[in-house]
Amino acid sequence: MTPFIDSHAHLDGDDYQGQIDEVLVRAAAVGVTQIVCIGASAGYESNPKTVDLVQERPTLFATVGIHPHDAKLATPEVVEKIRGLAQRPKVVAIGEIGLDYYYDHSPREEQHQAFRAFLGVARDLKLPVVIHTRDAEDDTLQILKDEGAQGLGGVIHCFTGTEKLAQGALDLGFYVSFSGVLTFKSADPLRSIARDLPRDRVLVETDCPYLTPVPLRGKKNEPAYVLYTAQKLAELWQVDLDQVKRQTAENTRRLFRLSC
Ligand code: NI
Repeated sequence: MTPFIDSHAHLDGDDYQGQIDEVLVRAAAVGVTQIVCIGASAGYESNPKTVDLVQERPTLFATVGIHPHDAKLATPEVVEKIRGLAQRPKVVAIGEIGLDYYYDHSPREEQHQAFRAFLGVARDLKLPVVIHTRDAEDDTLQILKDEGAQGLGGVIHCFTGTEKLAQGALDLGFYVSFSGVLTFKSADPLRSIARDLPRDRVLVETDCPYLTPVPLRGKKNEPAYVLYTAQKLAELWQVDLDQVKRQTAENTRRLFRLSC
């Protein structure tokens, strides 16, 4: 079976408490042999939990950051703690960071400040970035440009944006990652963007426990189900599933400089 990668999963929460190893077995059964675990799930505390989780498990990697929803928590002290965690083994990126004007859970000014601060940490440590952006495309691209993100590399995770955002990401040398949303009935515009992207810039992810793909809507999402997103891409690109697995895994390894 061709191995591939879930490039974005939140495994530190109560959803998988005591079940991580079963979740990993189910993932491996469909070929998902590596998983990038996102530390910025809920406030700061998800970060040390995620970094600890990946230390004991060879197939897991971590990212650290503060989600734009929680930007108001990103005090200078917290930013420094994230900088420290980012230097632990197997931490491969800063994220997810960015802007969310759909929910506006943190004031926009604080979102901007936190976003810029973490891009600074990524620059200092020469790490790529995982970007969350919703209803904030122009400001996201502008801040990425201002902060020199083209030299860092990164990914627009759970891409649900416009062609303009996709092009902006490509121009920065970034990748575009598709979640289970790609399988949703209403996602024709997204599928049309995915069809035309350069294939060496596309990743797949679950963003679990959220966004369970069709046909499993209603179930809790987990890394094994990234298979459905990969299948949808294979359909859109008119290639074998194995080719999508190989290509997206190669892209993910290149972006996060995974050693194997
Ligand atoms: Ni996420």
